[in-house]
Amino acid sequence: MRKDLWYAIDEKYRNEIVKPDPRFEKIQQNCAEAGLPTISISYTHGRLFELLVRAMGAKYILEIGTLGGFSTAWFASGLPYGGKLISLELDPERATLARQNLNMFEFKAKVEVWVGDALHNMTEMTKIDQPPFDLIFIDGEKSQYPDYLDLAIQLSHPGTLIIADNVVKHGRVYNEKTETPSQIGITKFHDMVANDPRLQATVQQTVGEKGHDGFSFIVVLEND
Ligand code: DHB
Ligand code: MG
Repeated sequence: MRKDLWYAIDEKYRNEIVKPDPRFEKIQQNCAEAGLPTISISYTHGRLFELLVRAMGAKYILEIGTLGGFSTAWFASGLPYGGKLISLELDPERATLARQNLNMFEFKAKVEVWVGDALHNMTEMTKIDQPPFDLIFIDGEKSQYPDYLDLAIQLSHPGTLIIADNVVKHGRVYNEKTETPSQIGITKFHDMVANDPRLQATVQQTVGEKGHDGFSFIVVLEND
């Protein structure tokens, strides 16, 4: 019953306020037809991310975990002309699907999907002379969140916003009795955030069509 209400409210505001957009509908449809797990962000969260990109004036975004490119498209839609998003995906088939999805629309000019291990690619990025990212979205392998965070900070500038998905996971992180590699990773991630004076952060629980979960919002104050 409660879940029915969460779903109904998400659907109401998706339709009435965010409003259906054929580009995102098409990407969702392609992901479903390709048999991807239905773990992309929700439509209303997609708009939140687009708004954050606009409000911050972000120009350079890193995403860890592309899946079918749904969240990628929302971040890209907030970017100005000339802005750029690099999205990292381990699975070549998913990367191909994401590219097809993004290339159908104007996101094409703003997005690069890199196939390979995100930790490896991020480590390589720290070695080359490339500008820091304004926004980093962590949504890859949950057990690796601590390592993503460490590298994300290195790829930041003061003021970079780091958003991490799935940090509440139906309360499983709070209920420590069921420890999986994902939970251990996310618990360690929260501990790192809590104990790093270079970061200012909060956790937002969410309910909706994705059930009960949450995001970490972290601003890098300094990263020397
Ligand atoms: C799940 C959800 C996610 O958003 C994700 O990135 C990975 C897994 C899940 O519900 O299993
Ligand atoms: Mg996720």
